[in-house]
Amino acid sequence: MKAKPFLKWAGGKSQLLAQLDAFYPPELREGKIIKYAEPFLGGGSVFFEVMQTCDIRLAYLSDTNKELILAYKVVQAKPLALIERLGDLQTRYDQTPRHARQALFLEVRSRFNATRHRIDHERFSDEWISRAAELIFLNKTCFNGLFRLNRNGEFNVPFGDYERPKILDAANLLAASRLLSKAELRVADYAECEAFADEQTFVYLDPPYRPISRTSSFTTYAGETFDDDEQRRLAECFKRLTHKGAKVMLSNSDPKNHDPNDDFFEKLYEGFNIQRVRANRAINSVGSKRGAISELLILNYQDEPRFLALNL
Ligand SMILES: C[S@@+](CC[C@H](N)C(=O)[O-])C[C@H]1O[C@@H](n2cnc3c(N)ncnc32)[C@H](O)[C@@H]1O
Repeated sequence: MKAKPFLKWAGGKSQLLAQLDAFYPPELREGKIIKYAEPFLGGGSVFFEVMQTCDIRLAYLSDTNKELILAYKVVQAKPLALIERLGDLQTRYDQTPRHARQALFLEVRSRFNATRHRIDHERFSDEWISRAAELIFLNKTCFNGLFRLNRNGEFNVPFGDYERPKILDAANLLAASRLLSKAELRVADYAECEAFADEQTFVYLDPPYRPISRTSSFTTYAGETFDDDEQRRLAECFKRLTHKGAKVMLSNSDPKNHDPNDDFFEKLYEGFNIQRVRANRAINSVGSKRGAISELLILNYQDEPRFLALNL
């Protein structure tokens, strides 16, 4: 079976995979690229896709979210124990009448928050397994699979009230675990992937997007902001990766959806290959208006000519 992301994550790329595929570096298909890096991991949809369609021997995956990386490490090393723990949670959830499920959700959320200081995120312990199970449970049962922390560092996303959330997907966790056996997982700033990258590496950069309108606030994940200065710092990293000979693909929002004169990314990535793909995303900050808008794909290589017809 094909492994897919085991978490729903804001900015997930599942919908865009077919379009992204058209822009992967040709060397990836030719077997000349054998290393893969995804330093803004999130749900990792591109990692799962690339690992199953190309011949990658070693992957480097990182994110600044330590709870996320803890869950990945547990899927990687202890899938069976995790499956058992999630099975218990799935059974409890299914046996709880719908009106009482919110209380179960809040119970798990409180436990997840109460134990956060006790956990050593650097050193593996049995407590990691319960914590990863709780994170996956919360991800499947909270509103929209969001991950948000309040100022005290407590997970505060409300209950989602979905009819039949798939809390345990054992086959997928096992398949994901097999793919992760080729991966090094790190809690790290994206720039640290530079030490891993070389001429045989494909790097996919999927940062928190630049807000597409002035009214929408800066995208924050776990309380961190990713403002224009961060976008500039990322462009420097993109250039250093280019200098090392790595093939790099970067996603971002397209400011021209709202302001045709906004050339922030054209200036930042002058001389690189800037493409546009269509995404079905919330257009404004309220999220009520949805529709096809374009998103940027910035490449430090030329895409395959046979796919040019797909470009906007
Ligand atoms: C747009 S999401 C990635 C979505 C992912 N590609 C997917 O398909 O689900 C961005 C991720 O970057 C992480 N992040 C934010 N700042 C970071 C930084 N400085 N270094 C590494 N990761 C960071 C966030 O925690 C978040 O998980």
